[in-house]
Amino acid sequence: GIDSIKRVEILSAMRERAPGLPEVNASEMAALRTLGQIVDYMRGRSGATAPSAKPAVTAAPKASGVQRFVLVEEPCAASGFVVPGLSAATKLVVTDDGSGVAPAVASALTGRGIRAAVVPSEAVPSDADGVIFLGGLRDVTSVDEAVAVNREAFQVARSVAARFASKGGLFVTVQDTGGDFGLSGRDATRAWTAGVSALARTAAVEWPTASVKAIDLDRAGRDAATLASAIVAELFTGGSTREVGLHADGARSSLRSVAREAAPAAMAVDPKTVVVVSGGGRGVTAASVIELAKRSHARIVLLGRSRLEDEPASCRGVSDDAGLKRALLDDAKKSGRAVSPSEVGVQVSKVLANREVRATLDAVRAAGSEVRYVAVDVQDAAALRSALDEVRGAWGPITALVHGAGVLADKLIAEKTPEQFDRVFDTKVAGLRALLSATAGDPLRWVVLFSSVAARTGNNGQCDYAMANEVLNKVAAAERHARGASFVAKSIGWGPWEGGMVTPALKARFDQMGVALIPLAEGARRFVDEITAAPGEVETVVGGAMGEGPLGSKTTATVMSVEVAVDQGSHPYLTDHRVAGKPVLPVALAIEWMARAARAFRPAAGTMRLRDLKVLRGIKLDHYEGGGHRFTLLGAAKAGGSADELVIELRGKDNGLHFSATVDVSEGARRPAERPASPKLGAWTREAVYDGHLLFHGPAFQVIQSIDGVSREGLTGTLTGTLERGWSPEPWRVDPAALDGALQFALLWSREVLGGASLPMAVGSFESYSESLPEGAIRCVVLGREAHDSRAVCDVVLEDLSGHALAAFRGVETILRPGEPVVREETSAGVPS
Ligand SMILES: NC(=O)c1ccc[n+]([C@@H]2O[C@H](COP(=O)([O-])OP(=O)(O)OC[C@H]3O[C@@H](n4cnc5c(N)ncnc54)[C@H](OP(=O)(O)O)[C@@H]3O)[C@@H](O)[C@H]2O)c1
Repeated sequence: GIDSIKRVEILSAMRERAPGLPEVNASEMAALRTLGQIVDYMRGRSGATAPSAKPAVTAAPKASGVQRFVLVEEPCAASGFVVPGLSAATKLVVTDDGSGVAPAVASALTGRGIRAAVVPSEAVPSDADGVIFLGGLRDVTSVDEAVAVNREAFQVARSVAARFASKGGLFVTVQDTGGDFGLSGRDATRAWTAGVSALARTAAVEWPTASVKAIDLDRAGRDAATLASAIVAELFTGGSTREVGLHADGARSSLRSVAREAAPAAMAVDPKTVVVVSGGGRGVTAASVIELAKRSHARIVLLGRSRLEDEPASCRGVSDDAGLKRALLDDAKKSGRAVSPSEVGVQVSKVLANREVRATLDAVRAAGSEVRYVAVDVQDAAALRSALDEVRGAWGPITALVHGAGVLADKLIAEKTPEQFDRVFDTKVAGLRALLSATAGDPLRWVVLFSSVAARTGNNGQCDYAMANEVLNKVAAAERHARGASFVAKSIGWGPWEGGMVTPALKARFDQMGVALIPLAEGARRFVDEITAAPGEVETVVGGAMGEGPLGSKTTATVMSVEVAVDQGSHPYLTDHRVAGKPVLPVALAIEWMARAARAFRPAAGTMRLRDLKVLRGIKLDHYEGGGHRFTLLGAAKAGGSADELVIELRGKDNGLHFSATVDVSEGARRPAERPASPKLGAWTREAVYDGHLLFHGPAFQVIQSIDGVSREGLTGTLTGTLERGWSPEPWRVDPAALDGALQFALLWSREVLGGASLPMAVGSFESYSESLPEGAIRCVVLGREAHDSRAVCDVVLEDLSGHALAAFRGVETILRPGEPVVREETSAGVPS
């Protein structure tokens, strides 16, 4: 069924499009319940289509060109929304952090009507539908303990991964890396726990229907109860912000990747520099090292596990995989050895690895550098130490480090074994520890770590890799902090290259996803540039265009959602917004929620601009005094629209759609068009503005202060806003009391042209020009545009008393309330009908 005012709106619109149809009688319409009955009534045909159940989603646009991004922390006001999935969780667990925060979080949640149990990390049940992982708050006294937190987090995610991947749920990680996700590098030990947030980012990718949040809570010596209340406040008011920093002074922040090209200075690397490069014999690190050799002639030590051996004579001159396999099988046959195909495969890999290392050594020498190759596993601290002793004996102390060693073993969290996790994670993390420890006595001047964009964005199947690289990012920050401002520490989050671990199959996958690859020569050049560029920019992302989606601020291909809970306690002012005794949700509050949702979905979004706001079904708050209501705001990229447009829908019980609009989430403030014309007005003769019927509003909504006059051309007057009305504090983004007042003025004008009481049912566009709420009186100008039987259209502009525009509605459509007695009076003409 369609609610009665909607029926009048549909019929009014049909009649305007097909003037031959009978005149709409609002009272008769109230009796028609379905679209079929309406169609019958009108004896015509309707081309209307039902609103789609889900907002359409578009893929990120494909673009090209390698870009560099710097990660920055930015203040981020809480949206006021409940984190999605919290109120729906039926089996919510909080993992024990060993310092008393977990029981305090569980009891604060229970106090707010959400049951939660504290469990040890190893006992998280596989059927939990909510997990708050507090392991990142654990006290750690050594790097070993800090690194173990990452494994603990992985095990917890693995326990629930199968359920979360299929059914969703709420997954929250909490860590203490200073509230800025370790960007400052202040705590050298806790930096090794930093992988926890990258687990959350990967979980968000692998579990698209789950609600995932990573919190960095600066404990700063505060007690468990205080920390718990900060966490719970974030769960109830922080909405869907994915990464949230909570500082000890109450400041809330988030992270953003900002495009910023490197400004390289003169090359500080010279032939006396002794650089140790893990993984430098092969792959993209090798290409980078060759470029470094060309530009610096530094002395270079390459580390890799492959041993340099002479290849079998039968392989010489054979370059293709199949040819090498044939040659090795022939060798085996001749010597009477039985070999399996996989053994042959391993031998071929060895031959190819050897060739690659030799080719790198030749190229580095040809570029003018002295070079050594040491076959060593970078995780083997003792072997590494003795290898570097030898280097020092020959070349003197080591002055620079590059950590490029890395392996992949992609598997979804649900399927990844602890052994697979360790292999990938330890190559990077234990490798870095061994390198730093083996060079602890060396006068290092710079360190470059080969990290990955996966740390920043998460990636399917790569939780271990993303977490390890995130640890690298934050240990780089800690090294820079500890060693002082002249020390260069860089962690480059590479996007995929045209080479190295990007196999032809992977390349095809990236092509399909519209992700451009970094050409080898360009990546190598950027690596050397980075060594000398802005030493303060430690953590960067360098990659082929990804539509900016993974980097935080622009395109998104997923449906985002936030939830808002409404009852008498949370929204006391709504008791004064009742139609026929029942509280109803004001359109102005729906706009406020959409503005907050836009900021939650796109933290960089500018002041509010929306278009095509539709009231598809008004919201009666039947349970306002009882159990309350929960609403969801869904956001998704607009199908076929620009990357800066989101369709935002307000849905209620059973996913019923109530309001929808297209919201512009581009950055920056909106600018008002020219000032509105002044309508010619007749005298305002009605006595009570708030008569309980035409304007049904109670004290909290009685914002109209004065009315200058009215005519079919328009109406002007003054009103006050949310601050003056003293509404309960919320993170206001627009001024809902003033906007409601603007719509009240629209209703007063509509009364003039329609002859009865109406309600606003659609808005062509709305723009707000201010980030803060105005104080004092606000001037309101209504300009009539159209008037029909049951429908009228006007624009409404709000200005301060010096004439600066505060907000503007264009195309406010008001529809006569069903059953409304219509009294049409002849007033001055002016509005076309
Ligand atoms: N290629 C990309 O698109 C891409 C994107 C983002 C980040 N990265 C990062 O860039 C680095 C290089 O990647 P790549 O694509 O060139 O990979 P690759 O071709 O597989 O090369 C990896 C290198 O690491 C060495 N290595 C692996 N484990 C080692 C260990 N335990 N000890 C010493 N050396 C070890 C390998 O030599 P041995 O096999 O001889 O040990 C090889 O030289 C990695 O850290 C990777 O995470 C690459």
